[in-house]
Amino acid sequence: MNYAIIGSGAIGGALAQQFARSKVPVVIANRRGPASLPETIQSLAPTVTAKEMTDALNADIIILAVPFNAVGDVARLRDRWDGKIVVDATNAIEFPAFKPMDLGGKPSSEVIAAHFRGANVVKAFNTLPAAVLADEPRVGNGHRTLFVSGNHADANETVASLVATLGFSAITLGRLSEGGLLQQFGGPLALHSLIKQG
Ligand SMILES: NC(=O)c1ccc[n+]([C@@H]2O[C@H](COP(=O)([O-])OP(=O)(O)OC[C@H]3O[C@@H](n4cnc5c(N)ncnc54)[C@H](OP(=O)(O)O)[C@@H]3O)[C@@H](O)[C@H]2O)c1
Repeated sequence: MNYAIIGSGAIGGALAQQFARSKVPVVIANRRGPASLPETIQSLAPTVTAKEMTDALNADIIILAVPFNAVGDVARLRDRWDGKIVVDATNAIEFPAFKPMDLGGKPSSEVIAAHFRGANVVKAFNTLPAAVLADEPRVGNGHRTLFVSGNHADANETVASLVATLGFSAITLGRLSEGGLLQQFGGPLALHSLIKQG
């Protein structure tokens, strides 16, 4: 399996730090190209490698760390996404009100999945503020928790395994229409920073 982070802002940068901390190779891309990456990310080479967006999208597992409304721009770069896992770390937030976007009751990751034809979409990495996501996930004797939801059990397991490799404790919640709604922005599990003890 190889990994890509799409987006090099607060969440992309936090994820890059976790991949580097756990020595898991990953590529990272943004709109403006490798030279624009901040020094905090450049310094994570060679574990974290900057690439052009189209090259990064060759990865098996693609983590979306871009604004919810920007996801269509990324998805348009390919016709089909068969065989790939797209990890949705976005939150569908209406600004400046800072409230959940009105998606007519549809899970936000279902909206994302409609853009990525053929991909297995898994929601993860969206529940913690960026500074907490970037922090050491091993806390005392425990591990900080991240939630995982998706409609494909194998893909959920793959992402839960990545979450554990990065040092977090994964809780798999089920389908996007169930767990996805619980963990998305506005849901009861959003913004909860839990520590699994032991
Ligand atoms: N910040 C948080 O605490 C937090 C917590 C949980 C979830 N999230 C979610 O994570 C996602 C990213 O948030 P963030 O705070 O990391 O945002 P951010 O700091 O603004 O970074 C956004 C990144 O997305 C890229 N981008 C923007 N528009 C794009 C487009 N049209 N096509 C391709 N790439 C595009 C930007 O590329 P350039 O650098 O080239 O401009 C940038 O690297 C959002 O959906 C947010 O809701 C954020």
